Amino acid sequence: EMLEKGGYEHFMLKEIFEQSRSIRDCMRGRIYPNEGRVQLGGIKEYADKLKNIDRIIIVACGTSWHAGLVGEYLIEEYARIPVEVEYASEFRYRNPIITEKDVVIAISQSGETADTMAAIEMAKEKGATIFGVCNVVGASIPRLTHAGVYTHAGPEIGVASTKAFTAQVTVLTLMAFYMAQQKGTLTQAKLVELLTELDCIPEKITKALASNELIKEIAHKFKDSRNCLFLGRGSGFPVALEGALKLKEISYIHAEGYPAAEMKHGPIALIDEEMPVVVIATKNSSYEKVISNIQEVKARKGIVLAIVTEGDTEVRKMADYCIEIPDSSEAFLPLLATIPLQLLSYHIALLRGCNVDQPRNLAKSVTVE
Ligand code: G6P
Repeated sequence: EMLEKGGYEHFMLKEIFEQSRSIRDCMRGRIYPNEGRVQLGGIKEYADKLKNIDRIIIVACGTSWHAGLVGEYLIEEYARIPVEVEYASEFRYRNPIITEKDVVIAISQSGETADTMAAIEMAKEKGATIFGVCNVVGASIPRLTHAGVYTHAGPEIGVASTKAFTAQVTVLTLMAFYMAQQKGTLTQAKLVELLTELDCIPEKITKALASNELIKEIAHKFKDSRNCLFLGRGSGFPVALEGALKLKEISYIHAEGYPAAEMKHGPIALIDEEMPVVVIATKNSSYEKVISNIQEVKARKGIVLAIVTEGDTEVRKMADYCIEIPDSSEAFLPLLATIPLQLLSYHIALLRGCNVDQPRNLAKSVTVE
């Protein structure tokens, strides 16, 4: 088993550290930065259809649903197509309005999740075109869909999803750029710029992973917490949701992810000197606003752990702890900001004596309702 874990203590840690490689594998043969071109063989038959679709519906469960929220942000921003993101379990039991013009993207690591499969079957009956974003090649979902793009993250053993999530986000990023290319919503020059940056993300992930020792130390301060709040704005919001999910899944600490601006409509009531608040506070369009959210937490004596852009000095003055990630465009923030949150959950869970690879009551793939 030690061999399978490649020298790491747990599959989860191995999978976290594999992410520069898995993202590279996911992009291989699909991006041509110099030409500003994305090639997605799995959905190329639908390239023309993508020019004229009214909307996209993303269906998924768990971590895959969080990847879907990042996808919504990216597709709307770059391809200007309206996107709705639905929990497959909810979508299948209401009577959603779906037409032949709709494209449904089903995201699933395992490709076997029962609710996601049922949602696909329903949308298919109503005439929608279904794309899959799956990790396990040849699983049930890829067989049910009309077309799709595999994430190629390799087998994920840890129950809590890590490298599959960042690979899903990578595929959705590629899909957003591909759709933008088909629709002409991005100039060639902008595509060159974005793809050139995307091409460097694996190296930046390696840099983000270098904070492992620092995160281990910070984990000691948080290990006895009973609650934890995660805040983010824009594409940092799904990152906050995923950070909270990771922590609750493997450490059993109650954690909630919230859009930072919504804090004042509820969670602020929970903040006191025992409440850790993890804030995605990188330098992007909402930086100043997030800074005021941090001030609100500090004014109530909350403990702030901020994920910041390399070299940041402003947040550092306010936050109790800071973890740096390399600078990037907002488009790629989720890929980088997720890394320290995965490591944080891992170390906290370990310090609490939890079984990180096989948390209680959870299953790697949920093939029943
Ligand atoms: C389970 C797993 C999660 C996963 C979710 C959806 O809850 O523990 O890690 O995100 O199912 O699974 P899927 O295979 O469809 O992505």
